[in-house]
Amino acid sequence: MDISNLIDLLYLVSIIVFIIGLKGLSHPETARKGNRVAALGMGMAIVISLLAPETSGNNNYPWIIGAMLIGGGIGFVSSKKIAMTKMPEMVSLFNGLGGACAMLIGIAEFGNLPQGADMMSGAVLTNIFAMFVGAVSLTGSLVAYGKLNGSLRDNFTLPAPQIINLVSLAGIIALSVMIMTQPELNMALVYALLGLSLFYGIAFVTPIGGGDMPVVISLLNSVTGIGATGAGLIYGNNIMIIGGILVGASGVILTVMMCEAMNRSLVNVLIGNLGASGGGSGSSREEIVKEVNISDLAIQLKYADKVAIVPGYGLAVAQAQHICHEIESALESEGVEVRYAIHPVAGRMPGHMNVLLAESDVDYDKLLELEPANSSFPSTDVVLVIGANDVVNPSAKDDSASPIYGMPILDVETAKNVVVFKRGMSTGYAGVQNPLFFGDKTKMLFGDAKSSLNKLKDEIANA
Ligand code: TAP
Repeated sequence: MDISNLIDLLYLVSIIVFIIGLKGLSHPETARKGNRVAALGMGMAIVISLLAPETSGNNNYPWIIGAMLIGGGIGFVSSKKIAMTKMPEMVSLFNGLGGACAMLIGIAEFGNLPQGADMMSGAVLTNIFAMFVGAVSLTGSLVAYGKLNGSLRDNFTLPAPQIINLVSLAGIIALSVMIMTQPELNMALVYALLGLSLFYGIAFVTPIGGGDMPVVISLLNSVTGIGATGAGLIYGNNIMIIGGILVGASGVILTVMMCEAMNRSLVNVLIGNLGASGGGSGSSREEIVKEVNISDLAIQLKYADKVAIVPGYGLAVAQAQHICHEIESALESEGVEVRYAIHPVAGRMPGHMNVLLAESDVDYDKLLELEPANSSFPSTDVVLVIGANDVVNPSAKDDSASPIYGMPILDVETAKNVVVFKRGMSTGYAGVQNPLFFGDKTKMLFGDAKSSLNKLKDEIANA
């Protein structure tokens, strides 16, 4: 077996390890292990690439290892420091850097074209593709990062975004055709294409906002995977091609699943521009909320047969998952059945609530998905809505002016009693008021979720 066959065989082994790791990510109980296995697969692929003749022959090891140490160091420190609630921002930023790599490879490879190379070739088309896709992913992800961390207003957008997008796309196609039909390489056209692609990434993401951001991030993630595939094609590197395809395909699947969870089509998310409005919903009349005190709630819970907990973004902010689990155990020891109702877009990233609850050792069998949770609410005595807002907002069902109209929600108002834990009357991510808070069966428990739950735990112990 010659060396290149051996390298391909080792690549195949590493990709199988990587896929086994990905499979593990599909279930919370195996996700941690899956992540490690996938990292091992990627690590193997890196080592094999370093040993491959095209790398060892160039003797670029000081550059490669230096860059790996700097990049790996930054990645290690930032992922250790990052708060769970800031994870989508970090994913967005790292995703943009992946796009930047594909873009730089595309540009660099234009410079490596041999003198007098045929411009109407697969190699040039691949360079254009990697550069375009990478550039869109870079600037699109940076805009998404800005919107998520609040440095860009959620409803910040360019005027007539759909026209700008169409004109930019037409310009990108025209420039690509011009580059390929020139007798020789014209770098001015390449840089014009680069500039327009970077601009298109901004124009594409700015009109999107509100609850649609997770879909965009997942889509950009997929775009970066496709960019990496393009870069792999440039180098004829099988591992980059397969890795890129896996990222691209899983990103598309996640995007479709999230659209389904929000009952929106992808086209509607991308050009509907509904998420950024923040309008709709909310009542014009002055409405009054009812409050509950902690000792009454403790007694009510102890006498309940069935209790459901709806965790949301506020639970993650308050880091109240552990105390939540302690309350669940305390109630179960009193004979109360406790279940968690998990909305697919609760929190700020896919699976956010599952990860949080798994962190505090909540039994996975106690987690109910949207449909079973909705069927169980009518027979539930008390629903505790902890730091959730949009995912329990009934205007998603009956207010067509609401930006979240059409999103399936947890129908907590069908339960016998609802108690909402939050600090005040602030809106959730979509920026709309929630009529649930004024409902007949609803009572509010104002305060930081962790401190309210701590007091509740003491009351349950003493009641
Ligand atoms: P949100 O609608 O964002 O509401 C969270 C609520 O938590 C807020 O109303 C806030 O009210 C309360 N809160 C914040 N800190 C708190 C604390 N320390 N203690 C108690 N309450 C606290 O959350 P949700 O219901 O989970 O909905 C998620 C939203 O985010 C959806 O619109 C979804 O589309 C969007 N989104 C989801 C994802 C993914 S993939 N999951 C990614 C990006 C965006 P107060 O300030 O009054 O306390």
